[in-house]
Amino acid sequence: MTLLTPITSAQPAGFDELRNWLSARCGIHYPENKSDLLRQRLARVQMAHQLRDLKDMAQRVVQAQQHDLQLAVMHAASTNHTYFFRERDVLDAVRTTILPVLANRPEIRIWSAASSSGEEAFTLAIMIAELFGAEALKRTTILGTDISAPVIERAEKGVFSDRQMEHVSADLRRRYFAPVGLGQYQIRQDIRNACTFRWMNLKAQPFPFTKPFQIVFCRNILYYFDRPDQIATVRAIHDVTEPGGWLVTSVTENVRDLLSGWQPVSSGISRKGVR
Ligand SMILES: C[S@@+](CC[C@H](N)C(=O)[O-])C[C@H]1O[C@@H](n2cnc3c(N)ncnc32)[C@H](O)[C@@H]1O
Repeated sequence: MTLLTPITSAQPAGFDELRNWLSARCGIHYPENKSDLLRQRLARVQMAHQLRDLKDMAQRVVQAQQHDLQLAVMHAASTNHTYFFRERDVLDAVRTTILPVLANRPEIRIWSAASSSGEEAFTLAIMIAELFGAEALKRTTILGTDISAPVIERAEKGVFSDRQMEHVSADLRRRYFAPVGLGQYQIRQDIRNACTFRWMNLKAQPFPFTKPFQIVFCRNILYYFDRPDQIATVRAIHDVTEPGGWLVTSVTENVRDLLSGWQPVSSGISRKGVR
């Protein structure tokens, strides 16, 4: 059995290398004042993979490029907190001003960039079903992507706990979810069929999509990125959004000065010019 050296600031070897790798590879920044949080998160990876110390971890992740360990570090370093109907005011604006414009489109294409476990994508599918009827789900494609493989697996299962569904009304719960265990609910099959989830790193640009999206949600992710990465991400999203399409960001993220090429519409919502 490997003897594990506890990860503390007294054992710095490998820490900066891993922190820099996370920043360069994933855009996830841990400033000095968050170093302890990163150490705690890396300690979980150390335990799960029985690694001697951070130097050993850095050697495998950075030099040897061990893919399974790289994924584990990316997952451990990311904050996946999300829930259904997050930032309801913005969603209300999407429902009243954006979705009606798409009412007669043969295909509705939405990207939930940094989807975490899928609550944002499923919320949008429910909103579409409520607004246009369940038939509209057949012409709806909602893509959810995330850098954390375990959350993508969770999204694909579509099973949620009471805590994640706190903001789902009793009526919507009854109509869109089926109990599948103690305090666990699975979302309806037609909602799941409208949503596809894939692992994807937002730092890998340009984005590999051939068909543009009408709406891109990029919420509660930009604040992990430094300024150049924020600007590059918002630009790369611009390239995969159709003319006149929308970008939805979080109202808690200050993105105003990043949005060249986007016209501000309302809090959290911007629109791409028509040409
Ligand atoms: C706080 S969650 C946001 C979920 C959802 N968009 C919301 O607003 O509730 C942030 C997500 O971004 C993902 N993430 C972090 N860096 C990423 C990157 N470089 N590429 C793709 N996803 C990333 C994390 O794994 C995490 O699931």
